[in-house]
Amino acid sequence: MADLGFDGKVAIVTGAGGGLGREHSVLLASRGALVVVNDVGGAVDGTGGDATPGQLVVDEITGAGGEAVLDTNSVATPEGGAAIVQTAIDAYGKVDIVVNNAGILRDKSFHNLTPEFVDPVIDVHLRGAFNVTQPAWVLMREQGYGRVIVTASSAGIFGNFGQANYGAAKMGLVGLAHVLAQEGERYNIKANAVAPVAGTRMTREIFGDLADKLAPGLVSPVVAWLAHEDCPVSGHIYSVGGGRVARVFVGEGPGYMRTDGPLTLEDVRDHFEEIERTDDFTIMRNATEELRLLAKLLG
Ligand code: NAI
Repeated sequence: MADLGFDGKVAIVTGAGGGLGREHSVLLASRGALVVVNDVGGAVDGTGGDATPGQLVVDEITGAGGEAVLDTNSVATPEGGAAIVQTAIDAYGKVDIVVNNAGILRDKSFHNLTPEFVDPVIDVHLRGAFNVTQPAWVLMREQGYGRVIVTASSAGIFGNFGQANYGAAKMGLVGLAHVLAQEGERYNIKANAVAPVAGTRMTREIFGDLADKLAPGLVSPVVAWLAHEDCPVSGHIYSVGGGRVARVFVGEGPGYMRTDGPLTLEDVRDHFEEIERTDDFTIMRNATEELRLLAKLLG
């Protein structure tokens, strides 16, 4: 089969001045995409700003014969998000792909969290995806085409000590992708999530020696596939790292249903094993599907 290309497709990659975003941008551009390399160039905790990291990525792409433009607006405000999309319009006239990748960390165990640790994390990760994707979405609907990728995390999907702020924001992104998959369906817009595992400045201390085997470039092929015209799925989540790719999903067990009277507290206790069952499960395509299942069971 032929290699996959992105000729003429316009991609916004947020947080593209380093780590995963840099790799996503370089891969997309090497396959013909016109890339908006967005990055504020701050520290891992979100403080500071510097245009240099983003510019270096633009230079790397253009130096290799690709097409890219720098944007240094922050994803954390609606104005910043609108400005990022405007950069794409000004440079290339449209937006086909949004890769929501920008991120910061302000880890603290839950009892020590203050707004100073919560708000910026929610603003960059969760609100950031709203801020950038929404103005792009309006254009995608009009053109009847779009691909949206959000960057989730195992910290939210499975939970991770000391990351309540980050984990909540990351799982919020999964909810966003699920809803966008529904709303985008009739406009040929697909939205999916990746949960990367990669050795970057954000994770090097956590992963130690393992970081060497977790090159961020090993995540980008999955992001690019989800950004491609041929992407066959929407509303899905993938764990990606070290060359491994696996679907992560939300499933619902068969459960217990009392049909001969109202459910009581003791019923829940006595049937808890059944309620807890995960050996047989359904992956709902949307909330209506679950409602239909319940309606069927209710007769
Ligand atoms: P990184 O720190 O190298 O990259 C994040 C980039 O986002 C930085 O270049 C930073 O300047 C930029 N950024 C931060 N705030 C921004 C803002 N307001 N507007 C625009 N850009 C902003 O870290 P990494 O690892 O490449 O992270 C990329 C994404 O992947 C993040 O969302 C992170 O939470 C997520 N992730 C990474 C994992 C890993 O194993 N590296 C694991 C799970 C999720």
